[in-house]
Amino acid sequence: MERIYFDNAATTSLDPEVLKAMMPYYTEHFGNPSSIYSYGREARMAIEAARKTVANLLHVKPGEITFTSCGTESSNLAINAAIRDLGCTHIITSTIEHHATLHTVQFLHSMGLCEVSYVNLTHDGHIDVVHLEDLLKSSHQKTLVTLMHANNEVGNLSDIVYIGELCERYDAIFHSDTVQTLAHFLLDLQEVKVHFMSGSAHKFHGPKGSGILFARQGLPIKPILHGGSQERNMRAGTENVAGIVGFAKAFELNMQSHHEDVVYIRSLKNYVIEKLTAAIPDIIFHGDIGERSLYTVLNVGFPVNDRSEMLSINLDIAGICVSGGSACNSGAQGGSHVIKGIYPHESKVPIRFSFSKHNTFEEIDKVVLKISELL
Ligand SMILES: Cc1ncc(COP(=O)(O)O)c(C=O)c1O
Repeated sequence: MERIYFDNAATTSLDPEVLKAMMPYYTEHFGNPSSIYSYGREARMAIEAARKTVANLLHVKPGEITFTSCGTESSNLAINAAIRDLGCTHIITSTIEHHATLHTVQFLHSMGLCEVSYVNLTHDGHIDVVHLEDLLKSSHQKTLVTLMHANNEVGNLSDIVYIGELCERYDAIFHSDTVQTLAHFLLDLQEVKVHFMSGSAHKFHGPKGSGILFARQGLPIKPILHGGSQERNMRAGTENVAGIVGFAKAFELNMQSHHEDVVYIRSLKNYVIEKLTAAIPDIIFHGDIGERSLYTVLNVGFPVNDRSEMLSINLDIAGICVSGGSACNSGAQGGSHVIKGIYPHESKVPIRFSFSKHNTFEEIDKVVLKISELL
């Protein structure tokens, strides 16, 4: 059966060119980068070349990039370091962050290590920046602001340039989870005043198990993994050399075709909006679907009935992959914390469609037809 994959916010397919760049580091260049003989040196050189590529694309110094195992690890590292090493005792975040952020913040709070404030959301799920400024103004403690760039479930984009300026004005540390936007947007970190930023290769046609943490130079932070001097003492453990090479290659390739991809993928999203609106009565779109939204993500609320509640399962049976929330939530009981956070009184069945450059208009026609039949 032909399958249609509309869950690219959960993960993307690995680009064959990325795999090709990675393969030699599983085969002939298998050395441990910490070894001093030639096998080790060639692996080390590959890591440092990858670091340079990533740093150049973000307009930062190579020493500001730490390779990690995933976006979740990067956010854990940043948030823990802000509390433990930078003296933050207050965290400002939102209720619709990814659990990698929320659960880390809640754990630190449960340990009595910080206070937590949740910034208000606007009616369509944006960060209320006036409230954010009020929280920063009235905070008398060293504060960490951790707010994501794009929400993975509804696609809303926050203005991280402005949030960075606010944090600078009030002397707060700023971490942004850019897992859904790294390599999907032009991020110039000379303009975005983040102290920390998390990214993950598998969201942009790179390998799973390969992430980065950007940490601004000069921050006196310590690792969370101990036992080796890898990653300039920031992350102990033998490096995932092929994964690191794949991270840089995927990032580079994505940026090469960035402009065409944005235009094409946004046109796919607009086409789904148009087709679904015409075909299915009483649907709504969660979050902001305009310019302040991720061009890859569309979250649709279907009217509640027996058929819509079975929709994602029946689409799966028909070979169509979509998500009922984020990948970590789909299938879980209790619904999405993001939809509940933005629409506490709404009852709709949320389905997330997320697109990549490999999707087509024909696929959308098929999916909309199937949804009409199923409903
Ligand atoms: C916004 C966001 N943050 C963090 C993560 C976690 O990234 P990783 O899968 O690399 O741990 C995800 C992945 O679902 C995400 O969408």
